[in-house]
Amino acid sequence: MRTLQLTVDYFVDNSENYTQAVDLLKKGEVVAFPTETVYGLGAVATDEKAVKKIFDAKGRPSDNPLIVHIGTAEEVSLYTSYIPEVAKLCMEAFWPGPLTIVMHAKPNILAPSVTAGLDTVGIRMPNHPVALKLLQTLKAPLAAPSANRSGKPSPTKADHVFEDLQGIIPCILDGGMTGIGVESTVLDVTLNTPVILRPGGVTKEMLEAVIGPVDEPSIEQQKIESTPKAPGMKYIHYAPNAPVYLIDANKETIENAIKQLKSEHKVALLAPESFKDIKVDYYFSFGEAHNLEQMSATLYDALRACDKTDATIILATATTKSGVGTAIMNRLEKAAGGNWFSLK
Ligand code: TXA
Ligand code: MG
Repeated sequence: MRTLQLTVDYFVDNSENYTQAVDLLKKGEVVAFPTETVYGLGAVATDEKAVKKIFDAKGRPSDNPLIVHIGTAEEVSLYTSYIPEVAKLCMEAFWPGPLTIVMHAKPNILAPSVTAGLDTVGIRMPNHPVALKLLQTLKAPLAAPSANRSGKPSPTKADHVFEDLQGIIPCILDGGMTGIGVESTVLDVTLNTPVILRPGGVTKEMLEAVIGPVDEPSIEQQKIESTPKAPGMKYIHYAPNAPVYLIDANKETIENAIKQLKSEHKVALLAPESFKDIKVDYYFSFGEAHNLEQMSATLYDALRACDKTDATIILATATTKSGVGTAIMNRLEKAAGGNWFSLK
């Protein structure tokens, strides 16, 4: 299969490219498209055969449900049996935007694979002109996970999608780099106290300002069986080929680590620009120091860049767990399998 990469930018009339993408989707094909978080791999969410192609293309386990993307907030009632008050408040405050709301699904409407056997569904209205135009032209919901091979960092550029899925999917809509760079916050509102199943661009603080107390289980708490969780969070995630170790963003610590490693390893360092002069085999930037927005926007690109080198170990600097730092550290801890570098 040849993978078309169709550019849809703000400057030209792209209607033909949207028509091609919509035609493919209506025929039961999958299409990758940009959102404000990461690129998604979409299929019409009511078409079981099409949705199955997403799982095949990604190599995704079938027990991991997909997020349903909609082009207008009103559509939410078509796919849910009941919309709790907190959900309404969240939609008003954060949609379109990087918030997926898990609610009770209306039975027998969505393709069974979308919900992976659960009686709930995660829905979001993305805040990206290309995603919205695609959804509003298609006039159907799109089931869409991140458009990477399962286990790999999510794509923040069309080229990342191409690297993972060329020859496997027919079309990528190329809308340039995504903005936020980490996936949406997943909020389950079916429980008495809403629970953040996956931290993202909409932070706990932002949610609590609108709906009051919200639970956010730590990685340690998530290991406890009874803690509510997103099925997908148990799998290996965001992992480059070489092992990743977290390290404090401290020049001396980093230099000592590199000194210890360099006789046996090719080392890649992922760190803010203030560390760019450190002598190391490969360096990839997390943007300006203490700028969490830049760090989240560059995180996956930096992790993916390591796979184009012969680095045998990756050191990635940690950051604060507040604001969007919670989402960044969640992804980095998963990429590192929880491992911190320790000096001998
Ligand atoms: O930003 C995003 O959310 C991107 C873009 C493309 O929208 N999508 C994305 O999808 O990250 P995916 O499939 O890579 O991650 C969806 C996560 C998984 O961890 C999945 O287990 C969880 O959401 N999820 C989906 N439906 C759920 C449900 N009904 N209950 C609990 N967790 C759910
Ligand atoms: Mg994903």
